[in-house]
Amino acid sequence: MVDWRNPPKLFIPGPVHVLPEVLQQLARPTLGHRAKEYSQLHEETIKLLKQILFTEQYVFLSTSSASGIWEASIRNCVNFDETVLCCMCGAFSDKWADVAKKCGRNVEELKVEWGMPHTVEAIDRKLAERKYKAMTIVYNETSTGVTNPLYDIAEMMKKKYPDVLVFVDAVSGMIGLPIHFDKLGWDVVFASTQKAFAIPPGLTVFAVSKRAMEKAKTVPQRGYYFDFVEFAKSDEKHQTPTTPAIPHIMALNYQCHRLVKEGMENVWARHKKMGEFVRGWAKQKWQLLVDEKYASNTLTVIKNSRNAVIGDIIKAVQAKHNAVFGNGYGKLKDLTFRIAHMGDITLADVKQLCAWIDEQTK
Ligand SMILES: Cc1ncc(COP(=O)(O)O)c(C=O)c1O
Repeated sequence: MVDWRNPPKLFIPGPVHVLPEVLQQLARPTLGHRAKEYSQLHEETIKLLKQILFTEQYVFLSTSSASGIWEASIRNCVNFDETVLCCMCGAFSDKWADVAKKCGRNVEELKVEWGMPHTVEAIDRKLAERKYKAMTIVYNETSTGVTNPLYDIAEMMKKKYPDVLVFVDAVSGMIGLPIHFDKLGWDVVFASTQKAFAIPPGLTVFAVSKRAMEKAKTVPQRGYYFDFVEFAKSDEKHQTPTTPAIPHIMALNYQCHRLVKEGMENVWARHKKMGEFVRGWAKQKWQLLVDEKYASNTLTVIKNSRNAVIGDIIKAVQAKHNAVFGNGYGKLKDLTFRIAHMGDITLADVKQLCAWIDEQTK
């Protein structure tokens, strides 16, 4: 029998395990969202996030999950008569293309097989075909465990297609993987907080470039809840356009202080170490889905090379140790399983989890 009051430790790729001290932040007395105290919390948090994302442009907080910013990036920055190139490499990037279509925009698809990364060459060839106004791409595809080579892609785009706006879904990448927003020349990047920020779900952090904001001002029918221009106006008062998830922002503030204190280079190195360990284990006992060169440092997708019933292993580990890892996602459901190693999960935690999985597959 499961009991939500005694939940398992989460090794699924989001929501991830949250430390008790972070949960305590969510229990602080609430603030009035137009009060000076809130503005102070907001300003301080945004300042820290700018350090974490290496940007001096806009950083906003959205009381929504990340999917809201899939829609926002399109509705704010792409006109109805323009075409957006959607790079698709798995369930989440595929979904983003779907969202762009549902927003009534013209979408051109660039697909690679699930488990493969996008390459500089293929994107270059596609962008050379016609005049695209914007491109969507996922940094870390959570369904396959691929990290796309976005630093290389950014270099190529800055040189050859400087006018194409770049929207990056970094939902399972932000914090665990480097993001130098300004240097990369990206226009929108976002992540919900239930991934490597290691906060419960309910809030999304997003950065917007100045040129994307200028573009937004010219795009009609941007909608209301996710209007970038409204976010910018409220930002001047260190506020959000609507009542935000204040408890989450308190927890985010706490996590940002910890991250800045640790130093982002160290944070990325910590994630890399966990990734290396899980990949080493997976290669010994199972197989990796992804070429190691593109394998994610925030989650590992492991091929079910032993033809095991993954659901039974997950259930057995939960029953014995009160911990859960992820099954495969979408069409990879029974063919793979997924272990998250991000946020406040430690190397000792993942070592323990791998040993528990071994116990069930001797
Ligand atoms: C890469 C990626 N993009 C988008 C999403 C959707 O995020 P949310 O559930 O916060 O809307 C997810 C969720 O797992 C994801 O992994």
